[in-house]
Amino acid sequence: MCGIVGYIGKRDAYPILLKGLKRLEYRGYDSSGIALIDGFDLDITKKEGKVVRLEEAIHKKEGSIGIGHTRWATHGEPSDENAHPHVSNNNSLAIIHNGIIENYESLKIELKKKGYHFSSETDTEVLVNFIEDIQETESLSLEDAVRVALSKIVGAYAIAVISKEDSNKIVAARKGSPLVIGLGSGEYFLASDATPIVEYTNEVVYLNDGEIVVLTREGYSVKDSEDIQQTPYVQTLEMELEELEKGGYDHFMLKEIFEQPRSIADCMRGRLNTETGNLFLGGIRNYSKALQNAERILIAACGTSWHAGLVAEYFIEELCRIPVEVEYASEFRYRNPVIKEGDIVIAISQSGETADTLAAIEIAKERGAIVLGVVNTVGSSIARVTHEGAYLHAGPEIGVASTKAFTAQLTVLYMIALRVAFYKGTIAQNKYRELVTEIGKIPKKVAAALESNEKIKKISERFKDAHNFLYLGRGYNFPVALEGALKLKEISYIHAEGYPAAEMKHGPIALIDEQMPVVFIATRDGSYDKIVSNIQEVKARRGIVIAIVNEGDAIIPDMVDYTIEIPATHESLMPLVSVIPLQLLSYHIALMRGANVDQPRNLAKSVTVE
Ligand code: AGP
Ligand code: GLU
Repeated sequence: MCGIVGYIGKRDAYPILLKGLKRLEYRGYDSSGIALIDGFDLDITKKEGKVVRLEEAIHKKEGSIGIGHTRWATHGEPSDENAHPHVSNNNSLAIIHNGIIENYESLKIELKKKGYHFSSETDTEVLVNFIEDIQETESLSLEDAVRVALSKIVGAYAIAVISKEDSNKIVAARKGSPLVIGLGSGEYFLASDATPIVEYTNEVVYLNDGEIVVLTREGYSVKDSEDIQQTPYVQTLEMELEELEKGGYDHFMLKEIFEQPRSIADCMRGRLNTETGNLFLGGIRNYSKALQNAERILIAACGTSWHAGLVAEYFIEELCRIPVEVEYASEFRYRNPVIKEGDIVIAISQSGETADTLAAIEIAKERGAIVLGVVNTVGSSIARVTHEGAYLHAGPEIGVASTKAFTAQLTVLYMIALRVAFYKGTIAQNKYRELVTEIGKIPKKVAAALESNEKIKKISERFKDAHNFLYLGRGYNFPVALEGALKLKEISYIHAEGYPAAEMKHGPIALIDEQMPVVFIATRDGSYDKIVSNIQEVKARRGIVIAIVNEGDAIIPDMVDYTIEIPATHESLMPLVSVIPLQLLSYHIALMRGANVDQPRNLAKSVTVE
């Protein structure tokens, strides 16, 4: 995601845009830029890095109309050239964009045939030239050219466009990405959320998908994609500025937990068509054959990303029948690993900057492995040093405890496994279609799991003073047990351990007493009956049991102290849903203990030291 702002009115636009970008920087900070119109001049300043670098670089600040952008890169690494705003070839139009244009490559080919040239790698620069081409070819107004262009766009966008030919107009539109209009007196504002607007006016309009707005100094007009005039609902904002930076959530972590239905869908957008079953992963296309023919796959990662690797081990082996070894990157790099030419190494990292993972990649490359990255941060070091890879497109994850990145990693890894299995022929066509259909349902199932938030908050009250926790799961849910324990440890500072449930008998069951809360992930799968026995073994020793079960489970609720229900899904996809209550449990317990859930003690979002 990214942050966009715009202003048209009687004041200088620059200070309003700059402050607005600072308020939106949490949405992405790879680069930033501002476009201002002063008379017939269209002035663009844009710089890689945080907004403060833009502030240092700005050379011209005049103009009472302008747009600004703080980027979270999806197409083209962070750089001055890829920073927004992007200008059309005729130097008249400037655009800022939040989202992904999925058909930008085909549009770019057509525009190049017409003589258009491009200075960036972004999808956004294609869009502004597409608008120019339509405006010039069909002699249309700016707003009509935008409407026609967007009717041919596939993807998600919130855009704002200005033209030096008409300094009394901002045209903006949205589909899939948010856009808010602020209604001042003789002045109008636009932004990705209300944060940059609320200090100037509390009268706002939240645009709906498909709507296009034209802002002028005299007023504003909203039309739908069929060019039909709309009567927008004007909302009066009550919220405090501070709240808005977290989109109304108390913490970034909670916001990111609740973003997961959308972020999981974004991982699949433009890659997996769950209707047709078409699956295209551009980022690994050059190594698809190598993946299919791999004799083994190694996964190197740390922390939550390592847990994602453990889940991937289960479904890659099940679907692709390729042996997988998952390694702590920090161990892998020091143990003189056996790596053969042609081995595939998958490096998983949200930040793309983890020093241990980077070091593991270097060793793997030195020994002839093909290294693929599964990374959230575009243009990060790991994205640059791996041979190829796939971005998560989950949007920036600000909370130190990783939540939406974990489910995004599983989604991308699962799509890789599905694609390899399909072309290897290790799963039947009907099985492939069944799993594609099921992964398409996951965003809704995650949304359903989130509905237990209030119940989980109540359960958390009982355990906020616990000194220890055990998390137990079997099969696909064993790595989820590890992830649940890590979440609790790192934000509540309660000691917690994750274990394969069957392992309890080999020692840890000595820990069980009435002071020991035990979380069982006990969803319906091949080992369900066994985990029921494990629960009985714990209850026989007066342990307190919280069970995560599938909706309608008629056996376990009567045996345990607390039950949290989640929707059923294929066991290989269950971790995407069963992790949700564990994220919420750790969040609420930590909060009740007065911990700083977004910035826990001793931790950093990206561990760039060894
Ligand atoms: C997870 O909640 C922690 N923040 C931490 O374990 C993290 O997963 C680990 O440092 C790896 O980070 P990366 O995914 O950015 O490489
Ligand atoms: N897809 C655009 C780019 O990569 C916009 C990304 C964003 O939403 O920040 O520049």
